[in-house]
Amino acid sequence: MPIAGILTGGGDAPGLNAVIRAVVRRLEPEGWRVVGILYGWRGLLERQTVELDAQSTSGILHVGGTVLHTSRTNPYKSPDDAQRLEANVRALRLDALVAIGGEDTLGVANRLAEAGFPVVGVPKTIDNDLPGTEITFGFDTAVSIATEAIDRLHTTAASHDRVIVVEVMGRHAGWIALHAGVAGGADYILVPEQPVDLEAVAEAVRRRRQRGKRFSIIVVAEGAKLGDSEVVQEGPQDEFGHGKLGGIGERVAREIERRTGAETRSVVLGHVQRGGSPTAFDRMLASRYGVLAAELVLQGRFGTMAAVRDGRLQAVPLREAARGLRTVPEELLKFARVFFA
Ligand code: F6P
Repeated sequence: MPIAGILTGGGDAPGLNAVIRAVVRRLEPEGWRVVGILYGWRGLLERQTVELDAQSTSGILHVGGTVLHTSRTNPYKSPDDAQRLEANVRALRLDALVAIGGEDTLGVANRLAEAGFPVVGVPKTIDNDLPGTEITFGFDTAVSIATEAIDRLHTTAASHDRVIVVEVMGRHAGWIALHAGVAGGADYILVPEQPVDLEAVAEAVRRRRQRGKRFSIIVVAEGAKLGDSEVVQEGPQDEFGHGKLGGIGERVAREIERRTGAETRSVVLGHVQRGGSPTAFDRMLASRYGVLAAELVLQGRFGTMAAVRDGRLQAVPLREAARGLRTVPEELLKFARVFFA
């Protein structure tokens, strides 16, 4: 009986369980045994596995997080781990490995595939910044949560005549900030793609006040840069070299208050954007990615990734996921500026 391994790596995203369920549901009737690898690449290093079947993956479609757990383990950080990783893929007798993740997880998956292992990728990140695909699952849910939060912040900002700066996720790209900002009617949106111009934000707030609008909502992506650098919190970097972002919202808020005299607050939405149930859109997208990944396994099309290209679900080379980042294009930023104050 052929064996397929499946793992989830990096930050969790709503829809991971829908992919797991879909892969199992497509492979099991074809006579495949499916083994879940716990905690991403760490589980492959430590051989932590769990049997998956239609029964054990029933009832998880609408559940957030990942039943397989996750980690930010980078097995290629040390040559010993890299060797152990490859030895364990052989020892577990995996005929296929489905890796669900973002730039880091799929970067590892791609190296494994290039070393000749039978790997298929599924693109995941709430940040929506993975190249090779037009959309990752988890993004729609994050945008919905952030938009609802912005709606709620509107009423409290308006009641107090305050400026509220909302910090949303988005390490390298401003997709969440842009979509939730436009959908939530933000008065200014700051993204990592462009240097933060604090005077332009202050001027937008002043303009609104002159028009009799005594409150403003500013959305900022956590990865937006003040000068040349992101605002990071103290603490060690993860195994892929990423610092812990956070704090730009408060820095922008203080500066806006100083420049405009308007009372200002900042709110960090943080991991709320990643938690809980996926939207119907993400359940559907994740299920489609899962079924396609299983088809690619059945067809032996390894070294590929399920993706959306030109609005159509299709397989692309896995190496495309490891090719930098997909940032927000200038055209979309220009569109969003129409709605700035
Ligand atoms: O990569 C997705 C992401 O949600 C980023 O937007 C954010 O910077 C990061 O993960 C947070 O990671 P952690 O869960 O390790 O705090």
